[in-house]
Amino acid sequence: MIKLACFGAGRIGQVHALNAAALPGAALVYIVDPVAGPEAKDLAARTGAIVTDVDTVFSDDTVDGILIASSTDSHAPLLHRAAAAKKAVFCEKPVSLDFAQVAEAARAVEASGIACMLGFQRRYDPSFRQVRDRIADGTAGRLEHVTMVSRDPTPPPASYVRTSGGMFRDTAIHDMDMCRFLLEEDIATVYATGSCLISPEIGETGDIDTLMITLTTVSGRMAQVINCRRGPLGYDQRLEALCEHEVLFVDNKPASSVRIARSDGSTAAPPMNYFIERFADAYRDEMTAFVDLIRDGTPALTTIRDGFEAQRLVEAAIVSATIGQVVAFGPNWMPEAAS
Ligand SMILES: NC(=O)c1ccc[n+]([C@@H]2O[C@H](COP(=O)([O-])OP(=O)(O)OC[C@H]3O[C@@H](n4cnc5c(N)ncnc54)[C@H](O)[C@@H]3O)[C@@H](O)[C@H]2O)c1
Repeated sequence: MIKLACFGAGRIGQVHALNAAALPGAALVYIVDPVAGPEAKDLAARTGAIVTDVDTVFSDDTVDGILIASSTDSHAPLLHRAAAAKKAVFCEKPVSLDFAQVAEAARAVEASGIACMLGFQRRYDPSFRQVRDRIADGTAGRLEHVTMVSRDPTPPPASYVRTSGGMFRDTAIHDMDMCRFLLEEDIATVYATGSCLISPEIGETGDIDTLMITLTTVSGRMAQVINCRRGPLGYDQRLEALCEHEVLFVDNKPASSVRIARSDGSTAAPPMNYFIERFADAYRDEMTAFVDLIRDGTPALTTIRDGFEAQRLVEAAIVSATIGQVVAFGPNWMPEAAS
Protein backbone atom coordinates (compact mmCIF):
# COMPACT_ATOMS: atom_id res chain seq x y z
CA MET A 1 0.00 0.00 0.00
CA ILE A 2 1.43 3.40 -1.02
CA LYS A 3 0.81 5.93 1.77
CA LEU A 4 0.31 9.58 0.85
CA ALA A 5 -0.15 12.92 2.62
CA CYS A 6 -1.78 15.96 1.05
CA PHE A 7 -0.80 19.56 1.85
CA GLY A 8 -3.63 21.99 1.15
CA ALA A 9 -7.36 21.37 1.40
CA GLY A 10 -8.38 24.14 -1.00
CA ARG A 11 -9.68 23.91 -4.56
CA ILE A 12 -7.00 21.70 -6.09
CA GLY A 13 -6.07 19.94 -2.84
CA GLN A 14 -9.57 18.49 -2.71
CA VAL A 15 -9.26 17.16 -6.27
CA HIS A 16 -5.90 15.48 -5.62
CA ALA A 17 -6.85 14.13 -2.19
CA LEU A 18 -10.06 12.54 -3.47
CA ASN A 19 -8.28 11.05 -6.49
CA ALA A 20 -5.45 9.68 -4.34
CA ALA A 21 -7.87 8.15 -1.84
CA ALA A 22 -9.82 6.44 -4.64
CA LEU A 23 -6.78 4.71 -6.14
CA PRO A 24 -6.42 0.98 -5.56
CA GLY A 25 -3.16 0.23 -3.79
CA ALA A 26 -2.90 3.74 -2.35
CA ALA A 27 -4.12 5.35 0.86
CA LEU A 28 -4.32 8.99 1.83
CA VAL A 29 -3.26 9.00 5.46
CA TYR A 30 -2.77 12.69 6.28
CA ILE A 31 -4.11 16.08 5.32
CA VAL A 32 -2.21 19.20 6.39
CA ASP A 33 -3.73 22.65 6.14
CA PRO A 34 -2.90 25.10 8.90
CA VAL A 35 -5.40 27.68 7.67
CA ALA A 36 -8.50 25.85 6.46
CA GLY A 37 -10.89 24.64 9.15
CA PRO A 38 -14.02 22.79 8.10
CA GLU A 39 -12.67 22.06 4.59
CA ALA A 40 -9.76 20.01 5.91
CA LYS A 41 -11.95 18.07 8.37
CA ASP A 42 -14.57 17.42 5.71
CA LEU A 43 -11.91 16.23 3.26
CA ALA A 44 -10.45 13.96 5.93
CA ALA A 45 -13.87 12.42 6.54
CA ARG A 46 -14.32 11.78 2.81
CA THR A 47 -10.86 10.27 2.27
CA GLY A 48 -10.24 8.32 5.49
CA ALA A 49 -7.23 10.53 6.27
CA ILE A 50 -6.52 12.40 9.48
CA VAL A 51 -5.74 16.10 9.77
CA THR A 52 -2.27 16.64 11.14
CA ASP A 53 0.74 18.99 11.06
CA VAL A 54 3.73 19.18 8.79
CA ASP A 55 6.25 17.67 11.24
CA THR A 56 4.13 14.56 11.78
CA VAL A 57 4.12 13.89 8.04
CA PHE A 58 7.87 14.24 7.58
CA SER A 59 8.75 12.21 10.66
CA ASP A 60 6.45 9.32 9.69
CA ASP A 61 8.64 6.79 7.88
CA THR A 62 5.59 4.97 6.54
CA VAL A 63 4.59 7.95 4.35
CA ASP A 64 5.86 7.23 0.83
CA GLY A 65 4.84 10.40 -0.95
CA ILE A 66 3.42 13.87 -0.44
CA LEU A 67 1.06 15.94 -2.56
CA ILE A 68 1.85 19.66 -2.48
CA ALA A 69 -1.47 21.31 -3.32
CA SER A 70 -1.15 24.21 -0.89
CA SER A 71 -0.70 27.92 -1.62
CA THR A 72 2.22 28.69 -3.92
CA ASP A 73 4.45 30.25 -1.25
CA SER A 74 4.58 26.89 0.57
CA HIS A 75 5.76 24.81 -2.43
CA ALA A 76 9.51 25.47 -2.30
CA PRO A 77 9.89 24.97 1.49
CA LEU A 78 7.90 21.70 1.27
CA LEU A 79 10.00 20.49 -1.69
CA HIS A 80 13.15 21.04 0.40
CA ARG A 81 11.62 19.11 3.30
CA ALA A 82 10.58 16.27 1.01
CA ALA A 83 14.10 16.12 -0.44
CA ALA A 84 15.62 16.00 3.06
CA ALA A 85 13.15 13.34 4.25
CA LYS A 86 13.55 11.35 0.98
CA LYS A 87 9.85 11.30 0.25
CA ALA A 88 8.44 11.23 -3.28
CA VAL A 89 6.61 14.42 -4.16
CA PHE A 90 3.87 15.59 -6.46
CA CYS A 91 3.99 19.39 -6.59
CA GLU A 92 1.49 21.81 -8.04
CA LYS A 93 2.67 24.57 -10.34
CA PRO A 94 4.34 26.99 -9.97
CA VAL A 95 7.26 25.87 -7.79
CA SER A 96 7.65 29.46 -6.57
CA LEU A 97 6.95 32.99 -7.74
CA ASP A 98 10.65 33.74 -7.17
CA PHE A 99 12.76 32.16 -9.89
CA ALA A 100 15.86 31.88 -7.69
CA GLN A 101 13.79 29.68 -5.36
CA VAL A 102 12.59 27.58 -8.29
CA ALA A 103 16.20 26.94 -9.30
CA GLU A 104 17.24 26.13 -5.73
CA ALA A 105 14.33 23.73 -5.17
CA ALA A 106 15.01 21.96 -8.48
CA ARG A 107 18.68 21.53 -7.52
CA ALA A 108 17.78 20.16 -4.06
CA VAL A 109 15.19 17.74 -5.44
CA GLU A 110 17.51 16.44 -8.15
CA ALA A 111 20.47 16.11 -5.77
CA SER A 112 18.34 14.10 -3.33
CA GLY A 113 17.26 11.62 -6.02
CA ILE A 114 13.62 11.62 -4.84
CA ALA A 115 10.86 10.94 -7.37
CA CYS A 116 9.16 14.22 -8.23
CA MET A 117 6.45 15.21 -10.67
CA LEU A 118 4.92 18.60 -11.41
CA GLY A 119 1.20 19.30 -11.72
CA PHE A 120 1.07 20.07 -15.43
CA GLN A 121 -2.13 18.06 -15.83
CA ARG A 122 -2.69 18.94 -19.49
CA ARG A 123 0.05 16.43 -20.35
CA TYR A 124 -2.31 13.78 -18.96
CA ASP A 125 -5.45 15.06 -20.67
CA PRO A 126 -6.48 12.35 -23.18
CA SER A 127 -6.96 14.88 -26.02
CA PHE A 128 -3.73 16.86 -25.57
CA ARG A 129 -1.92 13.59 -25.07
CA GLN A 130 -3.24 12.13 -28.33
CA VAL A 131 -1.96 15.20 -30.17
CA ARG A 132 1.45 14.77 -28.59
CA ASP A 133 1.49 11.02 -29.38
CA ARG A 134 0.63 11.54 -33.07
CA ILE A 135 3.47 14.06 -33.35
CA ALA A 136 5.96 12.06 -31.29
CA ASP A 137 5.37 8.76 -33.13
CA GLY A 138 5.64 10.45 -36.55
CA THR A 139 2.01 9.85 -37.65
CA ALA A 140 1.23 13.57 -37.99
CA GLY A 141 4.65 14.41 -39.41
CA ARG A 142 6.75 17.32 -38.23
CA LEU A 143 4.93 19.91 -36.11
CA GLU A 144 5.42 23.24 -37.88
CA HIS A 145 3.37 25.61 -35.79
CA VAL A 146 0.90 25.39 -32.94
CA THR A 147 -1.70 27.83 -31.62
CA MET A 148 -3.12 27.49 -28.13
CA VAL A 149 -6.06 29.36 -26.64
CA SER A 150 -6.70 29.31 -22.87
CA ARG A 151 -9.44 31.59 -21.58
CA ASP A 152 -11.08 31.54 -18.17
CA PRO A 153 -14.86 31.95 -17.94
CA THR A 154 -14.71 35.06 -15.72
CA PRO A 155 -11.91 37.15 -14.20
CA PRO A 156 -10.80 36.11 -10.70
CA PRO A 157 -11.20 38.58 -7.82
CA ALA A 158 -8.48 41.20 -7.37
CA SER A 159 -7.56 39.58 -4.03
CA TYR A 160 -6.57 36.39 -5.92
CA VAL A 161 -4.66 38.33 -8.56
CA ARG A 162 -2.61 40.19 -5.93
CA THR A 163 -0.97 36.95 -4.68
CA SER A 164 -0.96 35.07 -7.99
CA GLY A 165 2.42 36.29 -9.19
CA GLY A 166 0.75 37.90 -12.19
CA MET A 167 -1.02 36.43 -15.18
CA PHE A 168 2.13 35.17 -16.94
CA ARG A 169 3.24 33.07 -13.95
CA ASP A 170 -0.28 32.06 -12.93
CA THR A 171 -1.79 30.93 -16.25
CA ALA A 172 0.75 30.96 -19.11
CA ILE A 173 2.99 28.48 -17.32
CA HIS A 174 0.64 25.65 -18.38
CA ASP A 175 0.87 26.77 -22.02
CA MET A 176 4.66 27.13 -21.87
CA ASP A 177 4.82 23.56 -20.62
CA MET A 178 2.53 22.33 -23.40
CA CYS A 179 4.68 24.12 -26.02
CA ARG A 180 7.76 22.32 -24.70
CA PHE A 181 5.87 19.00 -24.60
CA LEU A 182 4.76 19.30 -28.23
CA LEU A 183 7.76 21.02 -29.82
CA GLU A 184 10.50 19.04 -28.04
CA GLU A 185 13.17 21.45 -29.23
CA ASP A 186 15.15 24.28 -27.65
CA ILE A 187 13.36 27.62 -27.80
CA ALA A 188 15.33 30.36 -29.56
CA THR A 189 13.14 33.44 -29.07
CA VAL A 190 10.30 34.62 -26.84
CA TYR A 191 8.09 37.60 -27.61
CA ALA A 192 5.20 38.53 -25.35
CA THR A 193 2.70 41.28 -24.90
CA GLY A 194 -0.11 41.87 -22.42
CA SER A 195 -2.86 44.36 -21.71
CA CYS A 196 -5.60 45.03 -19.23
CA LEU A 197 -8.65 45.05 -21.52
CA ILE A 198 -11.56 43.75 -19.50
CA SER A 199 -11.13 44.16 -15.75
CA PRO A 200 -10.31 47.57 -14.22
CA GLU A 201 -10.04 45.83 -10.81
CA ILE A 202 -7.23 43.63 -12.15
CA GLY A 203 -5.62 46.71 -13.71
CA GLU A 204 -5.61 48.42 -10.31
CA THR A 205 -3.45 45.58 -8.94
CA GLY A 206 -0.88 46.29 -11.67
CA ASP A 207 -1.63 43.07 -13.53
CA ILE A 208 -2.98 42.33 -17.01
CA ASP A 209 -5.97 40.21 -18.08
CA THR A 210 -5.03 39.38 -21.67
CA LEU A 211 -1.71 38.16 -23.05
CA MET A 212 -0.06 36.67 -26.11
CA ILE A 213 3.28 34.90 -26.35
CA THR A 214 5.12 33.84 -29.50
CA LEU A 215 7.91 31.28 -29.28
CA THR A 216 10.26 30.19 -32.05
CA THR A 217 12.43 27.12 -31.85
CA VAL A 218 16.05 26.84 -32.90
CA SER A 219 14.94 25.36 -36.27
CA GLY A 220 12.32 28.11 -36.77
CA ARG A 221 9.12 26.29 -35.77
CA MET A 222 6.57 28.44 -33.94
CA ALA A 223 4.04 28.49 -31.11
CA GLN A 224 1.44 31.17 -30.42
CA VAL A 225 -0.21 31.27 -26.99
CA ILE A 226 -3.30 33.33 -26.22
CA ASN A 227 -4.54 33.69 -22.63
CA CYS A 228 -7.45 35.71 -21.35
CA ARG A 229 -9.10 36.05 -17.94
CA ARG A 230 -12.54 36.11 -19.57
CA GLY A 231 -14.13 33.86 -22.18
CA PRO A 232 -17.59 34.91 -23.40
CA LEU A 233 -18.21 31.29 -24.40
CA GLY A 234 -17.05 29.94 -21.02
CA TYR A 235 -13.89 27.97 -20.18
CA ASP A 236 -12.18 27.98 -23.55
CA GLN A 237 -9.29 25.54 -24.00
CA ARG A 238 -8.37 24.86 -27.61
CA LEU A 239 -5.36 23.93 -29.65
CA GLU A 240 -4.52 23.73 -33.34
CA ALA A 241 -1.30 22.04 -34.39
CA LEU A 242 -0.26 22.30 -38.03
CA CYS A 243 1.88 19.32 -38.89
CA GLU A 244 3.40 18.01 -42.11
CA HIS A 245 0.58 15.51 -42.80
CA GLU A 246 -2.25 16.53 -40.47
CA VAL A 247 -3.83 19.45 -38.67
CA LEU A 248 -4.65 18.38 -35.13
CA PHE A 249 -7.40 20.22 -33.27
CA VAL A 250 -8.32 20.01 -29.60
CA ASP A 251 -11.78 21.52 -29.22
CA ASN A 252 -13.69 22.45 -26.10
CA LYS A 253 -15.48 19.63 -24.32
CA PRO A 254 -19.21 20.44 -24.16
CA ALA A 255 -20.98 20.06 -20.82
CA SER A 256 -23.49 17.82 -22.60
CA SER A 257 -23.68 16.28 -26.07
CA VAL A 258 -27.32 17.30 -26.55
CA ARG A 259 -27.97 19.73 -29.41
CA ILE A 260 -31.38 21.39 -29.34
CA ALA A 261 -32.77 22.18 -32.79
CA ARG A 262 -35.78 24.29 -33.76
CA SER A 263 -36.92 25.77 -37.02
CA ASP A 264 -34.96 28.98 -36.28
CA GLY A 265 -31.65 27.23 -35.58
CA SER A 266 -29.99 25.01 -33.03
CA THR A 267 -27.99 25.39 -29.84
CA ALA A 268 -25.24 23.22 -28.40
CA ALA A 269 -24.17 22.98 -24.77
CA PRO A 270 -21.46 25.38 -23.55
CA PRO A 271 -17.97 24.06 -22.67
CA MET A 272 -17.52 22.35 -19.33
CA ASN A 273 -17.59 24.90 -16.56
CA TYR A 274 -13.96 25.27 -15.46
CA PHE A 275 -10.67 23.46 -14.94
CA ILE A 276 -11.88 21.00 -12.29
CA GLU A 277 -14.56 19.63 -14.63
CA ARG A 278 -12.65 20.00 -17.93
CA PHE A 279 -9.50 18.30 -16.68
CA ALA A 280 -11.09 15.74 -14.33
CA ASP A 281 -9.65 12.82 -16.35
CA ALA A 282 -6.23 14.44 -16.44
CA TYR A 283 -6.14 15.02 -12.67
CA ARG A 284 -7.14 11.38 -12.12
CA ASP A 285 -4.51 10.07 -14.53
CA GLU A 286 -1.71 12.21 -13.13
CA MET A 287 -2.41 10.87 -9.62
CA THR A 288 -2.33 7.31 -10.97
CA ALA A 289 1.01 8.17 -12.60
CA PHE A 290 2.37 9.52 -9.31
CA VAL A 291 1.51 6.28 -7.50
CA ASP A 292 3.02 4.23 -10.36
CA LEU A 293 6.16 6.37 -10.13
CA ILE A 294 6.49 5.58 -6.41
CA ARG A 295 5.50 1.91 -6.69
CA ASP A 296 7.57 0.77 -9.65
CA GLY A 297 9.51 3.76 -10.90
CA THR A 298 7.41 4.23 -14.05
CA PRO A 299 8.61 7.64 -15.29
CA ALA A 300 5.99 10.37 -15.05
CA LEU A 301 5.34 12.72 -17.98
CA THR A 302 6.53 15.68 -15.88
CA THR A 303 9.54 16.31 -13.65
CA ILE A 304 10.82 19.14 -11.49
CA ARG A 305 12.98 20.14 -14.49
CA ASP A 306 9.81 20.69 -16.54
CA GLY A 307 8.59 23.02 -13.80
CA PHE A 308 11.89 24.90 -13.95
CA GLU A 309 11.95 25.11 -17.76
CA ALA A 310 8.31 26.21 -18.15
CA GLN A 311 8.91 28.94 -15.62
CA ARG A 312 12.14 30.04 -17.31
CA LEU A 313 10.03 30.63 -20.44
CA VAL A 314 7.45 32.53 -18.40
CA GLU A 315 10.16 34.75 -16.92
CA ALA A 316 11.47 35.46 -20.44
CA ALA A 317 7.92 36.33 -21.53
CA ILE A 318 7.64 38.78 -18.62
CA VAL A 319 10.93 40.42 -19.64
CA SER A 320 9.77 40.61 -23.27
CA ALA A 321 6.42 42.17 -22.34
CA THR A 322 8.19 44.66 -20.07
CA ILE A 323 10.79 45.87 -22.57
CA GLY A 324 8.59 45.40 -25.64
CA GLN A 325 11.25 43.39 -27.46
CA VAL A 326 12.03 39.86 -28.47
CA VAL A 327 14.13 37.99 -25.90
CA ALA A 328 16.92 35.86 -27.35
CA PHE A 329 16.33 32.70 -25.35
CA GLY A 330 18.57 29.65 -25.13
CA PRO A 331 19.54 26.90 -22.73
CA ASN A 332 21.49 29.35 -20.56
CA TRP A 333 19.08 32.29 -20.47
CA MET A 334 18.17 33.24 -16.92
CA PRO A 335 16.11 36.09 -15.47
CA GLU A 336 18.36 38.74 -13.93
CA ALA A 337 17.30 37.96 -10.35
CA ALA A 338 18.48 34.36 -10.69
CA SER A 339 21.63 34.70 -12.84
N1 LIG B 1 -2.71 22.44 -12.01
C1 LIG B 1 -3.84 23.09 -11.91
O1 LIG B 1 -4.73 22.95 -12.72
C2 LIG B 1 -4.06 24.01 -10.74
C3 LIG B 1 -5.36 24.50 -10.52
C4 LIG B 1 -5.56 25.32 -9.40
C5 LIG B 1 -4.51 25.65 -8.57
N2 LIG B 1 -3.26 25.17 -8.85
C6 LIG B 1 -2.14 25.51 -7.95
O2 LIG B 1 -2.37 24.83 -6.73
C7 LIG B 1 -2.02 25.66 -5.61
C8 LIG B 1 -3.24 25.83 -4.70
O3 LIG B 1 -4.25 26.50 -5.43
P1 LIG B 1 -5.80 26.47 -4.95
O4 LIG B 1 -6.56 27.10 -6.05
O5 LIG B 1 -6.18 25.11 -4.48
O6 LIG B 1 -5.71 27.48 -3.71
P2 LIG B 1 -6.69 27.56 -2.43
O7 LIG B 1 -6.43 28.91 -1.89
O8 LIG B 1 -8.07 27.14 -2.80
O9 LIG B 1 -6.10 26.45 -1.43
C9 LIG B 1 -4.81 26.51 -0.89
C10 LIG B 1 -4.88 25.88 0.50
O10 LIG B 1 -3.52 25.73 0.97
C11 LIG B 1 -3.56 25.98 2.36
N3 LIG B 1 -2.18 26.24 2.82
C12 LIG B 1 -1.47 27.40 2.83
N4 LIG B 1 -0.23 27.20 3.30
C13 LIG B 1 -0.14 25.88 3.62
C14 LIG B 1 0.90 25.05 4.13
N5 LIG B 1 2.10 25.55 4.44
N6 LIG B 1 0.65 23.73 4.31
C15 LIG B 1 -0.56 23.20 4.00
N7 LIG B 1 -1.58 23.94 3.51
C16 LIG B 1 -1.37 25.26 3.31
C17 LIG B 1 -4.52 27.15 2.52
O11 LIG B 1 -4.99 27.25 3.83
C18 LIG B 1 -5.62 26.74 1.52
O12 LIG B 1 -6.62 25.97 2.14
C19 LIG B 1 -1.50 26.97 -6.21
O13 LIG B 1 -0.10 26.91 -6.26
C20 LIG B 1 -2.08 26.99 -7.62
O14 LIG B 1 -1.23 27.67 -8.55
C21 LIG B 1 -3.03 24.36 -9.90
